[in-house]
Amino acid sequence: MYSNIKVAVAGTGFIGPVHVEGLRRLGVQVKGILGSSLEKSLKAAKHLGLDMGYAAYEDILEDREISAIHIAAPNVTHYEMVTQALKAGKHVMCEKPLAMTSKQTEELVQLARSSGLVAAVTYNVRFYPMNLEAQIRVKDGDIGRIFSISGSYVQDWLLYEDDYNWRVSAKKGGALRAVADIGTHWMDLIYSITGLEVEAVFANLNTVHKQRKKPLGEIETFSSKTQEVATEDIDIDTEDCGSILFRYTNGAQGTLWVSQVTAGFKNRIRYEIAGSKKSLSWDSDRANQLHIGHREHSNEILEKDPALVAVPTASFIDYPGGHSEGFPDTFKQCFRAFYNAILNRENISGRLSFASFEDGHKEVRLCEAILESHHTERWIHL
Ligand SMILES: NC(=O)c1ccc[n+]([C@@H]2O[C@H](COP(=O)([O-])OP(=O)(O)OC[C@H]3O[C@@H](n4cnc5c(N)ncnc54)[C@H](O)[C@@H]3O)[C@@H](O)[C@H]2O)c1
Repeated sequence: MYSNIKVAVAGTGFIGPVHVEGLRRLGVQVKGILGSSLEKSLKAAKHLGLDMGYAAYEDILEDREISAIHIAAPNVTHYEMVTQALKAGKHVMCEKPLAMTSKQTEELVQLARSSGLVAAVTYNVRFYPMNLEAQIRVKDGDIGRIFSISGSYVQDWLLYEDDYNWRVSAKKGGALRAVADIGTHWMDLIYSITGLEVEAVFANLNTVHKQRKKPLGEIETFSSKTQEVATEDIDIDTEDCGSILFRYTNGAQGTLWVSQVTAGFKNRIRYEIAGSKKSLSWDSDRANQLHIGHREHSNEILEKDPALVAVPTASFIDYPGGHSEGFPDTFKQCFRAFYNAILNRENISGRLSFASFEDGHKEVRLCEAILESHHTERWIHL
Protein backbone atom coordinates (compact mmCIF):
# COMPACT_ATOMS: atom_id res chain seq x y z
CA MET A 1 0.00 0.00 0.00
CA TYR A 2 2.80 2.39 0.87
CA SER A 3 5.48 0.87 -1.35
CA ASN A 4 5.46 3.68 -3.93
CA ILE A 5 6.46 6.23 -1.31
CA LYS A 6 10.17 6.95 -0.91
CA VAL A 7 11.43 8.78 2.15
CA ALA A 8 14.64 9.88 3.85
CA VAL A 9 15.50 10.10 7.54
CA ALA A 10 17.71 12.83 9.07
CA GLY A 11 19.40 11.63 12.27
CA THR A 12 21.45 8.48 12.81
CA GLY A 13 21.44 8.36 16.63
CA PHE A 14 18.90 6.68 18.91
CA ILE A 15 15.61 7.52 17.25
CA GLY A 16 16.55 7.86 13.54
CA PRO A 17 16.99 4.07 13.17
CA VAL A 18 13.70 3.56 15.09
CA HIS A 19 12.00 5.59 12.34
CA VAL A 20 13.73 3.49 9.67
CA GLU A 21 12.54 0.26 11.27
CA GLY A 22 8.95 1.49 11.74
CA LEU A 23 8.77 2.71 8.14
CA ARG A 24 10.07 -0.56 6.76
CA ARG A 25 7.66 -2.63 8.83
CA LEU A 26 4.88 -0.55 7.31
CA GLY A 27 6.20 -1.11 3.79
CA VAL A 28 7.37 2.45 3.09
CA GLN A 29 10.63 2.59 1.10
CA VAL A 30 13.42 4.27 3.05
CA LYS A 31 15.93 5.45 0.46
CA GLY A 32 18.59 6.96 2.68
CA ILE A 33 19.73 8.54 5.90
CA LEU A 34 21.68 11.63 6.96
CA GLY A 35 23.98 12.03 9.95
CA SER A 36 26.08 14.93 11.14
CA SER A 37 28.86 13.96 8.69
CA LEU A 38 29.10 11.97 5.45
CA GLU A 39 31.05 9.32 7.32
CA LYS A 40 28.21 8.88 9.85
CA SER A 41 25.61 8.83 7.06
CA LEU A 42 27.48 6.12 5.15
CA LYS A 43 28.08 4.06 8.29
CA ALA A 44 24.39 4.22 9.25
CA ALA A 45 23.25 3.44 5.67
CA LYS A 46 25.51 0.37 5.60
CA HIS A 47 24.39 -0.79 9.03
CA LEU A 48 20.70 -0.38 8.18
CA GLY A 49 21.03 -1.68 4.61
CA LEU A 50 19.90 1.56 2.95
CA ASP A 51 20.90 2.70 -0.56
CA MET A 52 22.01 6.22 0.34
CA GLY A 53 24.12 7.86 3.00
CA TYR A 54 23.50 11.53 2.20
CA ALA A 55 26.36 14.05 2.32
CA ALA A 56 24.14 17.02 3.22
CA TYR A 57 20.50 17.90 3.98
CA GLU A 58 20.34 19.82 0.68
CA ASP A 59 20.87 16.51 -1.15
CA ILE A 60 17.64 15.16 0.37
CA LEU A 61 15.79 18.36 -0.51
CA GLU A 62 16.96 18.09 -4.12
CA ASP A 63 16.23 14.35 -4.39
CA ARG A 64 13.06 14.25 -6.52
CA GLU A 65 12.29 10.67 -5.53
CA ILE A 66 11.85 11.68 -1.89
CA SER A 67 8.30 12.71 -1.00
CA ALA A 68 8.61 12.86 2.81
CA ILE A 69 11.39 13.59 5.28
CA HIS A 70 11.57 12.24 8.82
CA ILE A 71 13.49 14.68 11.03
CA ALA A 72 15.16 12.81 13.90
CA ALA A 73 18.16 15.07 14.52
CA PRO A 74 18.68 17.19 17.69
CA ASN A 75 16.03 19.79 18.55
CA VAL A 76 18.12 22.77 17.49
CA THR A 77 18.05 21.56 13.84
CA HIS A 78 14.25 21.10 13.61
CA TYR A 79 13.16 24.63 12.67
CA GLU A 80 15.54 24.99 9.72
CA MET A 81 15.06 21.43 8.53
CA VAL A 82 11.26 21.63 8.64
CA THR A 83 11.20 25.03 6.93
CA GLN A 84 13.42 23.84 4.10
CA ALA A 85 11.55 20.55 3.70
CA LEU A 86 8.16 22.25 3.37
CA LYS A 87 9.58 24.83 0.95
CA ALA A 88 10.98 21.96 -1.13
CA GLY A 89 7.51 20.35 -1.28
CA LYS A 90 8.25 17.42 1.04
CA HIS A 91 5.81 16.11 3.64
CA VAL A 92 7.32 16.26 7.14
CA MET A 93 7.33 13.96 10.16
CA CYS A 94 9.33 15.92 12.76
CA GLU A 95 10.46 14.58 16.10
CA LYS A 96 9.36 16.42 19.22
CA PRO A 97 9.70 19.16 20.29
CA LEU A 98 8.73 20.75 16.96
CA ALA A 99 11.18 23.63 17.45
CA MET A 100 13.01 25.62 20.13
CA THR A 101 10.55 28.50 20.69
CA SER A 102 6.83 29.18 20.20
CA LYS A 103 7.75 31.95 17.75
CA GLN A 104 9.38 29.31 15.57
CA THR A 105 6.57 26.78 15.99
CA GLU A 106 3.96 29.41 15.14
CA GLU A 107 5.79 30.15 11.90
CA LEU A 108 5.96 26.44 11.12
CA VAL A 109 2.21 26.06 11.69
CA GLN A 110 1.57 28.85 9.14
CA LEU A 111 4.05 27.43 6.67
CA ALA A 112 2.59 23.93 6.94
CA ARG A 113 -0.94 25.28 6.45
CA SER A 114 -0.05 27.26 3.35
CA SER A 115 1.99 24.39 1.87
CA GLY A 116 -0.91 21.94 1.68
CA LEU A 117 1.57 19.23 2.68
CA VAL A 118 1.09 16.75 5.52
CA ALA A 119 3.03 17.85 8.59
CA ALA A 120 3.24 15.86 11.83
CA VAL A 121 5.11 15.76 15.12
CA THR A 122 6.21 12.34 16.41
CA TYR A 123 4.21 12.14 19.63
CA ASN A 124 4.21 8.36 19.36
CA VAL A 125 2.89 7.55 22.89
CA ARG A 126 -0.63 8.32 21.62
CA PHE A 127 -0.34 5.18 19.50
CA TYR A 128 -0.14 2.57 22.24
CA PRO A 129 -3.42 0.78 21.52
CA MET A 130 -4.67 1.11 25.10
CA ASN A 131 -4.23 4.89 24.92
CA LEU A 132 -6.30 5.02 21.73
CA GLU A 133 -8.92 2.92 23.50
CA ALA A 134 -8.85 5.27 26.51
CA GLN A 135 -9.53 8.15 24.12
CA ILE A 136 -12.54 6.43 22.57
CA ARG A 137 -13.99 5.59 25.98
CA VAL A 138 -13.64 9.20 27.16
CA LYS A 139 -15.24 10.46 23.93
CA ASP A 140 -18.13 8.01 24.29
CA GLY A 141 -18.90 9.43 27.74
CA ASP A 142 -18.03 6.14 29.43
CA ILE A 143 -15.85 7.83 32.06
CA GLY A 144 -18.16 10.75 32.73
CA ARG A 145 -17.03 14.28 33.52
CA ILE A 146 -13.29 14.38 34.15
CA PHE A 147 -12.29 15.83 37.55
CA SER A 148 -8.59 15.16 37.80
CA ILE A 149 -5.60 13.77 35.97
CA SER A 150 -2.38 12.69 37.65
CA GLY A 151 0.72 11.00 36.34
CA SER A 152 4.42 10.97 35.78
CA TYR A 153 7.16 10.37 33.25
CA VAL A 154 10.36 9.14 34.86
CA GLN A 155 13.73 7.91 33.57
CA ASP A 156 17.15 7.35 35.13
CA TRP A 157 19.65 7.75 32.30
CA LEU A 158 20.83 11.21 33.50
CA LEU A 159 21.11 10.22 37.19
CA TYR A 160 24.86 10.68 37.60
CA GLU A 161 26.87 13.85 37.12
CA ASP A 162 28.95 12.14 34.44
CA ASP A 163 25.82 11.27 32.40
CA TYR A 164 25.85 13.66 29.47
CA ASN A 165 23.88 14.33 26.29
CA TRP A 166 23.26 17.37 24.04
CA ARG A 167 19.83 17.72 25.74
CA VAL A 168 21.37 19.06 28.98
CA SER A 169 22.46 22.23 27.15
CA ALA A 170 19.68 24.81 26.65
CA LYS A 171 21.45 25.97 23.47
CA LYS A 172 21.11 22.55 21.84
CA GLY A 173 17.98 21.10 23.41
CA GLY A 174 15.92 24.14 24.41
CA ALA A 175 15.40 26.12 27.63
CA LEU A 176 13.47 23.24 29.22
CA ARG A 177 14.86 19.71 29.15
CA ALA A 178 13.03 17.02 31.16
CA VAL A 179 9.70 18.80 30.64
CA ALA A 180 10.22 19.35 26.90
CA ASP A 181 11.86 16.00 26.23
CA ILE A 182 9.47 13.68 28.07
CA GLY A 183 6.91 15.89 29.85
CA THR A 184 5.48 17.00 26.49
CA HIS A 185 4.80 13.34 25.63
CA TRP A 186 2.60 13.16 28.76
CA MET A 187 0.86 16.47 28.06
CA ASP A 188 0.20 15.49 24.43
CA LEU A 189 -1.06 12.08 25.55
CA ILE A 190 -3.49 13.60 28.05
CA TYR A 191 -4.71 16.06 25.43
CA SER A 192 -5.20 13.28 22.88
CA ILE A 193 -7.18 11.15 25.37
CA THR A 194 -9.31 13.84 27.01
CA GLY A 195 -9.38 16.73 24.52
CA LEU A 196 -8.98 19.03 27.53
CA GLU A 197 -7.16 22.31 26.96
CA VAL A 198 -4.85 23.69 29.64
CA GLU A 199 -5.96 27.04 31.06
CA ALA A 200 -3.06 27.68 33.48
CA VAL A 201 0.10 26.02 34.83
CA PHE A 202 2.16 26.23 38.02
CA ALA A 203 5.64 24.67 38.06
CA ASN A 204 8.51 23.94 40.40
CA LEU A 205 11.62 22.62 38.62
CA ASN A 206 14.97 21.43 39.91
CA THR A 207 18.44 21.00 38.46
CA VAL A 208 19.96 18.30 40.65
CA HIS A 209 23.37 18.49 38.98
CA LYS A 210 24.38 22.13 38.64
CA GLN A 211 27.50 20.89 36.84
CA ARG A 212 28.01 17.80 34.68
CA LYS A 213 31.05 16.13 33.22
CA LYS A 214 30.93 16.51 29.45
CA PRO A 215 32.87 13.95 27.38
CA LEU A 216 35.25 15.56 24.93
CA GLY A 217 33.59 13.72 21.98
CA GLU A 218 29.99 13.22 20.72
CA ILE A 219 27.85 10.59 22.46
CA GLU A 220 24.45 9.30 21.41
CA THR A 221 21.30 9.03 23.50
CA PHE A 222 21.04 5.98 25.79
CA SER A 223 24.49 4.76 24.67
CA SER A 224 26.12 2.95 27.60
CA LYS A 225 29.52 3.94 28.94
CA THR A 226 31.96 1.24 27.94
CA GLN A 227 35.26 3.01 28.56
CA GLU A 228 36.73 5.91 30.49
CA VAL A 229 36.66 9.12 28.44
CA ALA A 230 38.22 12.52 29.07
CA THR A 231 35.66 15.06 30.31
CA GLU A 232 35.31 18.75 31.12
CA ASP A 233 33.05 20.28 33.82
CA ILE A 234 30.23 22.38 32.42
CA ASP A 235 27.47 24.40 34.11
CA ILE A 236 23.96 23.05 33.52
CA ASP A 237 21.13 25.39 32.54
CA THR A 238 18.27 22.88 32.19
CA GLU A 239 16.15 21.00 34.75
CA ASP A 240 16.60 17.34 35.76
CA CYS A 241 13.12 17.02 37.27
CA GLY A 242 10.07 18.99 38.33
CA SER A 243 6.42 19.04 39.30
CA ILE A 244 3.69 20.81 37.38
CA LEU A 245 0.10 21.62 38.29
CA PHE A 246 -2.44 22.11 35.50
CA ARG A 247 -5.84 23.79 35.49
CA TYR A 248 -7.93 22.69 32.52
CA THR A 249 -10.66 24.76 30.89
CA ASN A 250 -13.42 22.42 32.16
CA GLY A 251 -12.26 23.03 35.75
CA ALA A 252 -10.38 19.71 36.04
CA GLN A 253 -7.03 19.65 37.85
CA GLY A 254 -3.87 17.91 36.74
CA THR A 255 -0.51 17.07 38.25
CA LEU A 256 2.61 15.76 36.53
CA TRP A 257 5.96 14.64 37.95
CA VAL A 258 8.82 14.53 35.41
CA SER A 259 12.29 13.22 36.13
CA GLN A 260 15.37 11.99 34.29
CA VAL A 261 17.14 11.16 37.57
CA THR A 262 14.90 8.50 39.22
CA ALA A 263 17.02 5.35 39.68
CA GLY A 264 15.58 2.15 38.29
CA PHE A 265 12.86 3.72 36.18
CA LYS A 266 14.17 3.44 32.64
CA ASN A 267 11.35 5.03 30.69
CA ARG A 268 8.06 4.90 32.57
CA ILE A 269 5.05 7.03 31.71
CA ARG A 270 1.72 6.62 33.52
CA TYR A 271 -1.56 8.38 34.20
CA GLU A 272 -4.75 8.15 36.24
CA ILE A 273 -7.77 9.93 34.80
CA ALA A 274 -10.64 10.30 37.28
CA GLY A 275 -14.17 10.82 35.94
CA SER A 276 -17.63 11.03 37.48
CA LYS A 277 -18.43 7.43 36.44
CA LYS A 278 -15.08 5.57 36.27
CA SER A 279 -11.33 6.07 36.25
CA LEU A 280 -8.84 5.03 33.59
CA SER A 281 -5.19 4.38 34.27
CA TRP A 282 -2.26 3.15 32.21
CA ASP A 283 1.41 2.47 32.83
CA SER A 284 3.93 2.01 30.01
CA ASP A 285 5.64 -0.77 32.00
CA ARG A 286 2.39 -2.73 31.40
CA ALA A 287 1.56 -1.08 28.11
CA ASN A 288 -0.85 -3.76 26.89
CA GLN A 289 -3.29 -3.24 29.75
CA LEU A 290 -5.77 -0.49 30.55
CA HIS A 291 -7.02 -0.35 34.15
CA ILE A 292 -10.67 0.67 34.47
CA GLY A 293 -11.62 1.67 38.02
CA HIS A 294 -15.17 1.26 39.40
CA ARG A 295 -16.72 2.45 42.64
CA GLU A 296 -19.36 -0.25 43.04
CA HIS A 297 -17.89 -3.42 41.62
CA SER A 298 -14.55 -5.01 40.87
CA ASN A 299 -12.10 -3.10 38.77
CA GLU A 300 -11.30 -4.32 35.24
CA ILE A 301 -8.08 -4.84 33.36
CA LEU A 302 -8.67 -4.59 29.64
CA GLU A 303 -6.01 -6.50 27.70
CA LYS A 304 -4.84 -5.31 24.29
CA ASP A 305 -6.78 -7.56 21.94
CA PRO A 306 -8.34 -6.42 18.65
CA ALA A 307 -11.41 -8.49 19.52
CA LEU A 308 -11.99 -6.61 22.80
CA VAL A 309 -11.49 -2.98 21.80
CA ALA A 310 -13.40 -0.46 19.68
CA VAL A 311 -13.10 -0.75 15.88
CA PRO A 312 -10.94 2.43 15.47
CA THR A 313 -8.50 1.12 18.10
CA ALA A 314 -8.33 -2.28 16.39
CA SER A 315 -7.21 -0.57 13.17
CA PHE A 316 -3.99 0.37 15.01
CA ILE A 317 -3.34 -3.17 16.34
CA ASP A 318 -1.39 -5.66 14.22
CA TYR A 319 -1.14 -8.67 16.54
CA PRO A 320 -3.74 -10.79 18.33
CA GLY A 321 -4.33 -10.67 22.08
CA GLY A 322 -1.49 -12.00 24.19
CA HIS A 323 1.12 -10.77 21.68
CA SER A 324 2.62 -7.60 23.12
CA GLU A 325 2.91 -4.40 21.12
CA GLY A 326 5.25 -1.78 22.50
CA PHE A 327 7.53 1.18 21.85
CA PRO A 328 8.64 0.34 18.25
CA ASP A 329 5.03 -0.45 17.27
CA THR A 330 3.87 3.02 18.31
CA PHE A 331 6.14 4.54 15.66
CA LYS A 332 4.82 2.19 12.98
CA GLN A 333 1.22 3.07 13.88
CA CYS A 334 1.98 6.80 14.03
CA PHE A 335 3.54 6.55 10.55
CA ARG A 336 0.53 4.55 9.32
CA ALA A 337 -1.75 7.48 10.23
CA PHE A 338 0.70 9.92 8.59
CA TYR A 339 1.03 8.01 5.30
CA ASN A 340 -2.71 7.37 5.14
CA ALA A 341 -3.12 11.14 5.28
CA ILE A 342 -0.58 11.55 2.47
CA LEU A 343 -2.21 8.89 0.29
CA ASN A 344 -5.69 10.29 0.89
CA ARG A 345 -4.27 13.75 0.12
CA GLU A 346 -5.88 15.20 3.21
CA ASN A 347 -4.12 16.56 6.27
CA ILE A 348 -6.03 14.30 8.63
CA SER A 349 -4.72 14.86 12.09
CA GLY A 350 -6.76 15.05 15.23
CA ARG A 351 -7.01 13.23 18.49
CA LEU A 352 -7.32 9.73 17.00
CA SER A 353 -4.44 10.39 14.67
CA PHE A 354 -0.96 11.88 14.60
CA ALA A 355 -0.06 15.11 16.37
CA SER A 356 -0.30 18.06 14.00
CA PHE A 357 2.01 21.09 13.93
CA GLU A 358 -0.74 22.91 15.88
CA ASP A 359 -0.35 20.25 18.58
CA GLY A 360 3.44 20.64 18.46
CA HIS A 361 3.06 24.41 18.82
CA LYS A 362 0.73 23.92 21.79
CA GLU A 363 3.39 21.84 23.59
CA VAL A 364 6.11 24.45 23.09
CA ARG A 365 3.75 27.18 24.38
CA LEU A 366 3.07 25.03 27.44
CA CYS A 367 6.82 24.61 28.00
CA GLU A 368 7.33 28.36 27.90
CA ALA A 369 4.50 28.93 30.38
CA ILE A 370 5.93 26.24 32.68
CA LEU A 371 9.36 27.86 32.65
CA GLU A 372 7.85 31.30 33.31
CA SER A 373 5.86 29.88 36.23
CA HIS A 374 8.98 28.31 37.69
CA HIS A 375 10.91 31.59 37.45
CA THR A 376 8.11 33.83 38.74
CA GLU A 377 6.67 31.35 41.29
CA ARG A 378 3.09 31.99 40.14
CA TRP A 379 0.29 30.54 37.99
CA ILE A 380 0.71 31.37 34.29
CA HIS A 381 -2.36 31.55 32.04
CA LEU A 382 -2.10 30.18 28.54
N1 LIG B 1 9.48 10.25 20.10
C1 LIG B 1 10.37 9.72 20.93
O1 LIG B 1 10.06 8.81 21.70
C2 LIG B 1 11.79 10.22 20.91
C3 LIG B 1 12.80 9.47 21.56
C4 LIG B 1 14.10 9.95 21.49
C5 LIG B 1 14.40 11.12 20.82
N2 LIG B 1 13.41 11.84 20.24
C6 LIG B 1 13.72 13.09 19.53
O2 LIG B 1 14.50 12.76 18.38
C7 LIG B 1 15.50 13.73 18.15
C8 LIG B 1 16.88 13.04 18.15
O3 LIG B 1 17.10 12.47 19.43
P1 LIG B 1 18.08 11.21 19.64
O4 LIG B 1 17.78 10.72 20.98
O5 LIG B 1 18.01 10.27 18.48
O6 LIG B 1 19.50 11.95 19.63
P2 LIG B 1 20.93 11.31 19.38
O7 LIG B 1 21.92 12.25 19.96
O8 LIG B 1 20.97 9.88 19.79
O9 LIG B 1 21.06 11.33 17.82
C9 LIG B 1 21.01 12.52 17.08
C10 LIG B 1 21.59 12.25 15.70
O10 LIG B 1 21.45 13.40 14.89
C11 LIG B 1 22.64 13.57 14.13
N3 LIG B 1 22.78 14.97 13.76
C12 LIG B 1 23.24 16.02 14.49
N4 LIG B 1 23.19 17.15 13.78
C13 LIG B 1 22.70 16.79 12.56
C14 LIG B 1 22.44 17.51 11.37
N5 LIG B 1 22.65 18.83 11.29
N6 LIG B 1 21.96 16.82 10.31
C15 LIG B 1 21.71 15.50 10.39
N7 LIG B 1 21.94 14.77 11.48
C16 LIG B 1 22.43 15.41 12.55
C17 LIG B 1 23.75 13.10 15.07
O11 LIG B 1 24.89 12.71 14.33
C18 LIG B 1 23.08 11.91 15.75
O12 LIG B 1 23.27 10.76 14.98
C19 LIG B 1 15.32 14.78 19.25
O13 LIG B 1 14.58 15.84 18.75
C20 LIG B 1 14.55 14.07 20.34
O14 LIG B 1 13.75 14.92 21.11
C21 LIG B 1 12.12 11.39 20.27
